[in-house]
Amino acid sequence: MNIAMGADHAGFEQKELLKNYLVEQGFTVHDKGCFSEERVDYPDFAQLVSRSVATGEADFGVLVCGTGIGMAMAANKIHGIRAANVSTAEFAQLAREHNNANVVTLSGRFVDVETNKAILDAFLNTEFAGGRHECRVSKIMELE
Ligand code: RB5
Repeated sequence: MNIAMGADHAGFEQKELLKNYLVEQGFTVHDKGCFSEERVDYPDFAQLVSRSVATGEADFGVLVCGTGIGMAMAANKIHGIRAANVSTAEFAQLAREHNNANVVTLSGRFVDVETNKAILDAFLNTEFAGGRHECRVSKIMELE
């Protein structure tokens, strides 16, 4: 499975740790930056990762900034993206099951790396439930 990852300076450290965690599990990671703790603007990386998912280069996107909030706002501007900012594994599971999220945004400053690993485990191993959620997700996409 192909995963596109990105971060700003506030998420850089965890992006590196989480990238290694995913590679160790056999995922192919497309690292879209940033590549240091030098101050950058999170929408630039949200866009790169989201376009990778929207074009099919990646199956899912993972974005890390200080809170995950700005990354989610920017990612959700890209056609075809359903980004969820989550801070628990349970919400990650529900974001996949109910909302068919294709990008997860994480906090590198307020959520520890072990929790973010558990969030990725839940996100990447949960299927969309479909059924009654299908028409609701379609209605989200019709808003684009
Ligand atoms: C950067 O200081 C911070 O604003 C950013 O990482 C993120 O938390 C925005 O939502």
